[in-house]
Amino acid sequence: MLKTGFVGYRGMVGSVLMKRMAEENDFKDFEKVFFSTSQAGKTDTIAGETSTGILENAENIEKLKQMDIIVTCQGGSYTEKVYPQLMASGWKGYWIDAASTLRMKDDAIIILDPVNRNVINDALAKGIKCYVGGNCTVSLMLMGIGSLFNNNLVEWISSMTYQASSGAGAVNMKELLTQMAALGSAAGDMIYDPASAILEVDRLITEKMRSSDFPVENFKVPLAGSIIPWIDKGLENGQTKEEWKGVVELNKILMTKKQIPVDGICVRIGAMRSHSQALTIKLTKDVPIKDIYDILAAGNEWVKIVPNELEATRAELTPAAVSGTLTIPVGRIRKMNIGNEYLTLFTVGDQLLWGAAEPLRRMFNIVREYLGK
Ligand code: HSE
Repeated sequence: MLKTGFVGYRGMVGSVLMKRMAEENDFKDFEKVFFSTSQAGKTDTIAGETSTGILENAENIEKLKQMDIIVTCQGGSYTEKVYPQLMASGWKGYWIDAASTLRMKDDAIIILDPVNRNVINDALAKGIKCYVGGNCTVSLMLMGIGSLFNNNLVEWISSMTYQASSGAGAVNMKELLTQMAALGSAAGDMIYDPASAILEVDRLITEKMRSSDFPVENFKVPLAGSIIPWIDKGLENGQTKEEWKGVVELNKILMTKKQIPVDGICVRIGAMRSHSQALTIKLTKDVPIKDIYDILAAGNEWVKIVPNELEATRAELTPAAVSGTLTIPVGRIRKMNIGNEYLTLFTVGDQLLWGAAEPLRRMFNIVREYLGK
C-alpha cells in the first residue's frame, strides 16, 4: 500500500491542506504517516477528527525514507536541511513541497495543474520526482489568466499587487488585527458618533499609528490604515524578491521557450487571506474584448468572469467575497485607452487555497493516479 508522509500539517498552510483533503475524501486507501519537528511520539487529530497515530520525528531520515510520497508544508529551512539528506540517502520517492527553496532547481517542477498539467505529465514521464507549489501571487495570477498565455496572447504584463497579511504568516495576520483593534479604540466612542469631528478622529488615529506602543513587531510599521509597498528582500536590480518571482516562476510554470516579461510592484495591504492584483497586459495582437472574455472564462472551472459593473464588482471581486473559496474572479476587464492591444483587468484569489494548499493536494492525487496506487 502506498505510504505517504505529511510534514508541517499543523501550520497555517498545512491545516488548510488537511481540511481540503478531508473535504475531498482524499485520505483513503493509503498509509498515512504524520511527522512533526516538535511533537514526535505524541498523537494528534487532523481536520478536527482523524487521529494522526503516533507522530514521527520529521528529521528521522530512516523513517522518511520509507515513504513513497512526502508532502511538506513545514517551510524552507526544513526543506533546506532535510531534502539533501534524504536524496543523499538514495530515496526515490516523490517530494511535494509548499516552500520556495527548491522551486527554481532544474529538476523541480512548479505545480499548478489547471494551468500546466502538460508540464507535470511530461515531468512524471521523465521520472522527475520533485514538485513544488508556486509563489502564491504567481499561482493566483495564472489561475485567473493562464488561458491568455496558453493562447499565446501575452507579450508582457505589468502587475500591481494587493497582497493579504496571510502571505506574511499567521502571526502577521494577528498583528494586522491587533493594529486594527488599537486604531479602533484610539478614538474611543467618537467613531460611533456621527456628529464627531472627523479631522480630530483622524488626528487621534494617526497619532496612535505613530506611537511607540503601536503593535508593529512583525510588519515593523503600521499596515492597518496604511499599506507597505515592499514584500520580501530587495534585489540589486531594484526589484523585491516577490517581484522577481513574478517573472521567473511564471515562465517556469509555463515552461516558456522565450521569457515573457512580467514586472510590477508588490504591495502588502490590510486584507486577511486573499491576494488581489491589477494587471496591464500587452497583447500579442488586437483581440476583440468579447473573445477575451470567452478565452478567460474557458481557462478553468474556477475562473469566474465578473462583469465590469459596480454592483457585480463590489459583490464578487473583493477579498471579502473570495476568502475561503476556490473561486478566482476576474473582472474590470477592458481594453485600455492606451491602445487596442492593451488589456487591463483585476483578479482576486485565496492565498491559502489556490495560492498554497490546493496545488499540493491536487499534485498528491496526480502522483497517486500516475502510480496507479
Ligand atoms: N510571498 C507571498 C506573500 C506569500 O508574501 O504574500 C507566499 O507565496
